[in-house]
Amino acid sequence: MTSSSAMISFIFLLLCFTYSSASGSSLRVGFYQKTCPAAERIVRNAVKKAVSSNPGIAAGLIRMHFHDCFVRGCDASVLLKSTPGNRAELEHPANNPSLRGFEVIDEAKAQIEAVCPGTVSCADILAFAARDSSYKVGGINYAVPAGRRDGRVSIEEEVPQNLPPPSFNAEQLAQNFARKGMSVDEMVTLSGAHSIGVSHCSSFSQRLYSFNATHPQDPSLDPRYAAFLKTKCPPPNTGASGDPTAALDIATPNRLDNKYYTELKNNRGLLTSDQTLMNSPSTTGMVVNNARQGALWANKFARAMVHMGSLDVLTGTEGEIRRHCSFVN
Ligand code: HEM
Ligand SMILES: *[C@@H]1O[C@H](CO)[C@@H](O)[C@H](O)[C@H]1NC(C)=O
Repeated sequence: MTSSSAMISFIFLLLCFTYSSASGSSLRVGFYQKTCPAAERIVRNAVKKAVSSNPGIAAGLIRMHFHDCFVRGCDASVLLKSTPGNRAELEHPANNPSLRGFEVIDEAKAQIEAVCPGTVSCADILAFAARDSSYKVGGINYAVPAGRRDGRVSIEEEVPQNLPPPSFNAEQLAQNFARKGMSVDEMVTLSGAHSIGVSHCSSFSQRLYSFNATHPQDPSLDPRYAAFLKTKCPPPNTGASGDPTAALDIATPNRLDNKYYTELKNNRGLLTSDQTLMNSPSTTGMVVNNARQGALWANKFARAMVHMGSLDVLTGTEGEIRRHCSFVN
């Protein structure tokens, strides 16, 4: 081999390395095996205990991981409290007051700090907790690549810039996910998380009472389901106080499964962003397939969660390992 061709193959190899490290995530399964072997077990037990007494907590933790990852990457920015002069992500109506499960993260963090202080990030604890929730209420288990570091920044205005509102149609949802490098199929697959948990009436009651000028009620909503929802959600401006909730999936509200997609086929998607997946020709086929093939959907769900969990992560010496998940060090 001539020295110039040796040089060319050397540069080629160098390029391959640079590319693989830039595109491949640097997170690793078993990241805490040596430094904090108890970490994943502590999180799993904390989730088990909390979800056994309230299955809604599983929904809260899965959603919290999504809201973390889509805003500034999976860096636990969603957990930070506001400080004087800075309103944190938590203040935004998409998070407050509906996000739940914070006490589970705090409990796991306290137990982990007691055995390996300053080692396990809040972002990783949240990723583990979302996985453990999926397992507990859906039997969906998967290995979570870890090594995320915690961010030091959390800004309320970044929430509406990154999280999709429930009024979005399939095309808008696909665009929102594409900005994160996630596919339409992943978007439809992860929407299956709405197979558990609840929504406040304020997120969908416009479909019941003020859809448009000619139709007070959304015609894409099963009329009997709409009548049921009206018993739960009072019309706006009637002086009724509070913001009641309804199950996102009336078939199996506490089971993470593919019944959500069957309900979409029956025009019983609770949010506009749910029903549009069935009614938009670009995603109908995916809904039908997910309704038909539960095991395949569960498999795709696990893979899409891992992908979502790798978005814009801080690693190595970036960020910090927070001592308390609500505050920067
Ligand atoms: C596709 C775009 C999405 C939109 C527009 C959306 C919107 C919403 C809304 C409006 C609620 C109800 C909030 C309330 O009023 O209480 C909700 C709940 C929920 N979301 Fe999503 N979401 C989306 C995707 C996701 C993803 C990707 C996940 C997780 C992988 C997820 C997990 C959940 C869960 C589990 C709940 C129930 C929370 C609870 O019961 O505490 N969502 N979502
Ligand atoms: C109201 O919605 C219905 C059903 O989607 C539609 O056919 C109708 O054109 C809409 N009316 C107005 C005024 O937007």
